[in-house]
Amino acid sequence: MADWNAALYRQFEDERTRPAQELLNRVGLDDPRAIVDLGCGPGNSTELLVQRFPKADVLGLDTSDDMLASAKERLPDCRFIKADIAAWQPEQAPDLLYANAALQWVPDHTALFPRLLSLLAPGGCLAVQMPDTLDELSHRLMREVAARGPWASLIGDAGAKRAKRQPAAAY
Ligand SMILES: C[S@@+](CC[C@H](N)C(=O)[O-])C[C@H]1O[C@@H](n2cnc3c(N)ncnc32)[C@H](O)[C@@H]1O
Repeated sequence: MADWNAALYRQFEDERTRPAQELLNRVGLDDPRAIVDLGCGPGNSTELLVQRFPKADVLGLDTSDDMLASAKERLPDCRFIKADIAAWQPEQAPDLLYANAALQWVPDHTALFPRLLSLLAPGGCLAVQMPDTLDELSHRLMREVAARGPWASLIGDAGAKRAKRQPAAAY
């Protein structure tokens, strides 16, 4: 994948932000000081974090230049950095690591999840939501159409880049 397209992503932002809100509703922390939005996209999920925890230091990180530019435009007072979740190391231990619809793009969950947990401050929280939609009819049809036309070589097998999600019990 060359890059994400923030404008296209934002076309369905309301729908995309609902699971982000639901994930945040499950976070039981009262007063986290340092929060990191892993795979912050265009800042839609970061904005929810800022609204709920206005006193916290919120950092958004992403690998996509276009997503980061859009996030900075939305939240000019927030910090955003370009970094890969798989390798990123925090400067200070975060109280909340929040990842909505991002970790399905990061490989090797067996190593990733313990690593993320090890980065947390004592009493911290790792909040993760990953969509489980690959076998939905919409996604099967998208793959079929993507593989069929003259665009097939441009699109490639984008779905194969998604990390293999393990059964819930494994997490
Ligand atoms: C589906 S969007 C989620 C955006 C936002 N968190 C939300 O709730 O709508 C996934 C984001 O994860 C980012 N991403 C994918 N792999 C990443 C990685 N290894 N490190 C950092 N960001 C990554 C993508 O660039 C994209 O912006």
